[in-house]
Amino acid sequence: PLGSAINDHGHLVIGGCDSMDLAETYGTPLYVFAEEDIRARAREFKREFTGRLSSSRVVYAGKACLNRAVAKIIAEEGLGLDVVSGGELEIARSAGFPMKNIYFHGNNKSDAELELALAAGVGRIVIDNAWELARLDGIAGARSCRADVMLRIKPGIDPHTHAKITTGNIDSKFGFGLEDADSAVGRILSSNSLKLVGFHYHIGSQIFEIQPFLDAMHTALGFIAGVRGRWGLIVDELDAGGGFAVQYLSGQAPPSVGEYAEAIVSFFKEECRRLDLTSLSLTVEPGRATVARAAVALYSVGVIKDIPGIRRYLCVDGGMADNIRPALYGACYEPYLANRMTERANQLYTVAGRFCESGDILAADVKLPAADPGDTLVMPVCGAYCIPMASNYNAFFRPAVVMVKEGQHRLIRRRESIEDLLRTDLG
Ligand code: LLP
Repeated sequence: PLGSAINDHGHLVIGGCDSMDLAETYGTPLYVFAEEDIRARAREFKREFTGRLSSSRVVYAGKACLNRAVAKIIAEEGLGLDVVSGGELEIARSAGFPMKNIYFHGNNKSDAELELALAAGVGRIVIDNAWELARLDGIAGARSCRADVMLRIKPGIDPHTHAKITTGNIDSKFGFGLEDADSAVGRILSSNSLKLVGFHYHIGSQIFEIQPFLDAMHTALGFIAGVRGRWGLIVDELDAGGGFAVQYLSGQAPPSVGEYAEAIVSFFKEECRRLDLTSLSLTVEPGRATVARAAVALYSVGVIKDIPGIRRYLCVDGGMADNIRPALYGACYEPYLANRMTERANQLYTVAGRFCESGDILAADVKLPAADPGDTLVMPVCGAYCIPMASNYNAFFRPAVVMVKEGQHRLIRRRESIEDLLRTDLG
């Protein structure tokens, strides 16, 4: 995280707190979030986008990491929030997040969730398919309200990222194909309960190239101009989704937020001018890029297992149940030893988790200082898509999460216990 340092003991310091003290106080595995890092990224997105286009909006994609502490920070920084379930909506609501700044996404929302979204008064419901459109129309009609909606479209773009996080392609489960979206516009225009305020697409995640963002935008803006021609409707907003990449490995730097913003906003302005869509506003939904670098995961080293001449495993007390990303996407991380930050990393290890699967490897063939049981392994860039995707596999207790700032630390999610696991097990 921003502001991290190494102290005289050779320990990693985050938000002014010695990581070894944190591990001692709260136990491991422990996720440590630096509040100032989240705030700085949120401000950077706002500055880089609204500085270039004052009508643009930044909406944080809560699926990357949502809890009440994060929701409050996001609200204080003036970002909107993308939620994809009644659960995320309720977390945001209980944190006092302003409902009008919420975008409700999802490809298979239940009636109960649509009811909840209307009752809570969320700012936008993003309609994914014709079936949902009909149901929402009925539910909003029965409540005699008029909901601001967007339609999610598929621009048919390949963002060159991992197949499991590619979403804007034509055979994706998300969104309308363009022809179906056009019929949906007609359907909304004939409804008294729905108001079409814009269109949305999201082409994927961890996208290093800028061109796919522009290609998707080109298609979407052409479609929006076509809608104006066919239906006489000028919508207010294009929500271009998220997908901005962050750096996990030292050799692989993505564009900066400023570089993404410059390319995307100038292209947006140019195309809007060309198509005479100058009243259109732009929304972006960064999830990973807002929180990924704000957190590290701390693990205790237990067993070190040498298979002579082949591999040396360094086994830690967490793994795929708190970070599924290496197993699911082949994601790569660069760990360190938090208590040996000044020692030379000259030993080759494979960091294995403690779960009953050979695929539970957090990082293969990484260099670390010579380790002993009891050392603390730190995995940087664990703020996005780790805790929210965590499971209770092998009856594992999901880890504690702390927030650090200026030498202060506070628990924002307590470690689970056997009582938590037994509470839902009715025997
Ligand atoms: N907006 C929508 C509609 C989305 O579906 C997503 C992510 C985002 C915004 C934010 O994308 P981001 O800026 O975080 O790339 N679990 C995967 C990533 C799944 C992304 C799902 N949708 C991973 O760990 O890589």
